[in-house]
Amino acid sequence: MSRSAHPAGPRHADVLPEGHYSAPPADLNTLDPKVWAQTVDRGADGVVRVGGVDVKALAEEFGTPAYFLDEADFRARARAWRTAFGQDADVFYAGKAFLSRAVVRWLHEEGLNLDVCSGGELATALSAGMPADRIAFHGNNKSTEEIHRAVEAGVGRIVLDSFQEIVRVAHIAQELGKRQRVQIRVTVGVEAHTHEFIATAHEDQKFGIPLAGGQAAEAVRRALKLDGLELIGIHSHIGSQIFDTSGFEVAAHRVVGLLKDIRDEHGVELPEIDLGGGLGIAYTSADDPREPHEIAKALTEIVTRECEGARLRTPRISVEPGRAIVGPTAFTLYEVGTIKPLDGLRTYVSVDGGMSDNIRTALYDAEYSVALVSRTSDAEPMLARVVGKHCESGDIVVKDAFLPADLAPGDLIAVPATGAYCRSMASNYNHVLRPPVVAVKDGDAQVIVRRETEEDLLRLDVG
Ligand code: LLP
Repeated sequence: MSRSAHPAGPRHADVLPEGHYSAPPADLNTLDPKVWAQTVDRGADGVVRVGGVDVKALAEEFGTPAYFLDEADFRARARAWRTAFGQDADVFYAGKAFLSRAVVRWLHEEGLNLDVCSGGELATALSAGMPADRIAFHGNNKSTEEIHRAVEAGVGRIVLDSFQEIVRVAHIAQELGKRQRVQIRVTVGVEAHTHEFIATAHEDQKFGIPLAGGQAAEAVRRALKLDGLELIGIHSHIGSQIFDTSGFEVAAHRVVGLLKDIRDEHGVELPEIDLGGGLGIAYTSADDPREPHEIAKALTEIVTRECEGARLRTPRISVEPGRAIVGPTAFTLYEVGTIKPLDGLRTYVSVDGGMSDNIRTALYDAEYSVALVSRTSDAEPMLARVVGKHCESGDIVVKDAFLPADLAPGDLIAVPATGAYCRSMASNYNHVLRPPVVAVKDGDAQVIVRRETEEDLLRLDVG
């Protein structure tokens, strides 16, 4: 089929149904550096490259769909967080955003710590050589077995999430003849400005122990009495994909308030405060994320000011960015399949993946960008919806985006900013195989998570 042979559909700005988009961008060939990984650019031949390797070569070698991760960018972002917070603070990368053994090694080399929230994440971290004392173990329903493994391995901290868990961890630590360093996760009652499903500091939800009604203070009382625990601090995580620091400000104020109450009641100044993760990234050109050094400055100032006000020694701060480190570093490469123009609506562009490699659009109504990357085009913009191959009408990858009207089956398109919560939330829906993650750096591409095979799938079937 020639590039222009498919039937004419809604091509440009004079047919614009309801949607998230604004006007089509002036030039569809230009890649906004805000949403693409650092080393991504378009070569003189029009083909987009990452780490010096062009996407046609990558597609040929590794197939599509696939996630391509810019290793230099990942390391630079990890380092930027580390440097911004300096020696008096700790940066824990949140493994839930994306974890693999290679990533664990990079983090170790760049001097970051790691936040894990399941036995699987813990196993990955330990097997790739992350020292246990640099691991924080999270979760609202850690199993006895997980706690046992974490304490036995000697994790640097367990973040306690409930009254029951306080007793459970203390008991297991005592059984193992250890004293486990712990923090208590509190909910500070902040409404973070983000999607309801990823906001975590309001009280009506499953995470943490509310400050309200003195519950957190009671948790501290109990933890301080138990021999198996060494209470080192208070933890707060207010949500995810947040752009302004005002929520953190309120959280810091309330957490420091608790530290002061603890000092007054028990004569103990807890040495640490963890403000969680949650910093937003640019998924589209409309997003304006803050830089790590701005965030570090703001958070450090808030905590210092609050502590001075309460006459407390400033505790050691830690943060847990996941998305802000890995999110912008990868894009998903797809091959265009069926193209279906719907008169007066938009053109449906089907790709060879979908909600199994990126559930975020279906789950959070997330917005993404997309670009034709295997060539340039001077064709006019066409309002497109990029959809997957799953048996579900909500299987949308990019809800509203402009792509050139001469888009054709076989073209490669890429969705940027898919490093976080895409591979890590991938599924086998419709027995579609989960894509590989390929790290690209200095002209070299290395598979760090291989593509799933039908054999992998069949291996789980019994009988
Ligand atoms: N610390 C804790 C305790 C967390 O629960 C999380 C994320 C983080 C740190 C890292 O947050 P980040 O810096 O990555 O925003 N699947 C959702 C996001 C869920 C976040 C869960 N917890 C999404 O795709 O938007």
